[in-house]
Amino acid sequence: MDLKQKRMNELIHQIRECRKCTLWKNAKNPVPGEGDLNTSLMMIGEAPGYHEDIKGQPFVGSAGRVLDELLMSIGIKRNEVFIGNIIKHRPDENRDPNEEEIKACGSYIERQIQIIKPRLIVTLGRHSTKYVMSNVDVEFRGISEIRGKVFEKHLFGIRLKIMPTFHPAATLYNPTYRNFLENDFQMINKLLEEFS
Ligand code: URA
Repeated sequence: MDLKQKRMNELIHQIRECRKCTLWKNAKNPVPGEGDLNTSLMMIGEAPGYHEDIKGQPFVGSAGRVLDELLMSIGIKRNEVFIGNIIKHRPDENRDPNEEEIKACGSYIERQIQIIKPRLIVTLGRHSTKYVMSNVDVEFRGISEIRGKVFEKHLFGIRLKIMPTFHPAATLYNPTYRNFLENDFQMINKLLEEFS
């Protein structure tokens, strides 16, 4: 087993045992995230929902189907990227995670970024965007203002690009978001081509 996998396995073990907040009490399974540890692209969502909690995997419900379609539109399979969330246990009733929970869980995504060392991070929705931007000193005033913009930054000691976009679930409530997401995924494709 290579070093990255070993470090990720240790982290997953810590996530399973984590009692830093109370979300574990109502959760069925932790959702640490999954995918290629040698990828250039890491996608970060907010928190597991109902289906993710049951399966222990990120983005496997209706938002996940949209994410898979968007990835497919640029010729990428989900197992070629790493998909994770800021919050590792499902908030009850799918409520928004609070500040303390985000703070408590943040060290896990930080260490995942340090293990994977991606070249591009795409934040999905306002919670993950706000969290990531607060760690690179970019003022976050709202997802609509910042989406589709590319930031070149040092995040947790790793030099990389960050591009925020809407959460895929937004398209389920308002189909007009789909066009924005499709455009942003074209930008992801361009950025990945620049790396290769
Ligand atoms: N929404 C998220 O932000 N993450 C998931 O894993 C599923 C839905």
